Amino acid sequence: MQSNQELFHIALDAASQSYSPYSHFRVGAALLCDDGTVVLGTNVENRSFGLTICAERSAIVSAISSGKKKFHSIAIATPDSNYPVSPCGACRQVLSEFLSPETAVIFGPRLENAVATTIGALLPFDALHELARSDKKA
Ligand code: THU
Repeated sequence: MQSNQELFHIALDAASQSYSPYSHFRVGAALLCDDGTVVLGTNVENRSFGLTICAERSAIVSAISSGKKKFHSIAIATPDSNYPVSPCGACRQVLSEFLSPETAVIFGPRLENAVATTIGALLPFDALHELARSDKKA
């Protein structure tokens, strides 16, 4: 299974697939599944700006679409920033739907100044769990 460092380098590679002609801000995500596979995501922008999909959400959507159910960690690389850019609020919410609060998250422009944290730290006081009982899920 990949270390956080290896996962971060995979996220950096994924950023090279970014479709970001409007912001010119590339983001790559590497989501390590409990089965040992890594699912990639990148940001996909749109000329109707509000339709942009972040790298984190594109990784989650891809993983769920391929039947992945449990996740070990996620790395997010933003090679065009000079400081660690953390996941946006929408991505924190979507990640928290599928990743437990203890799940490791590493983000940054480079490994040397990356931040290692957890889903729970990024989204404290998470709510509405009673609506997400596993026996109700499709
Ligand atoms: N973006 C992500 O993909 N993930 C983040 O965590 C922050 C922002 C993307 C959205 C947009 O394409 C670009 O970065 C600038 O906001």
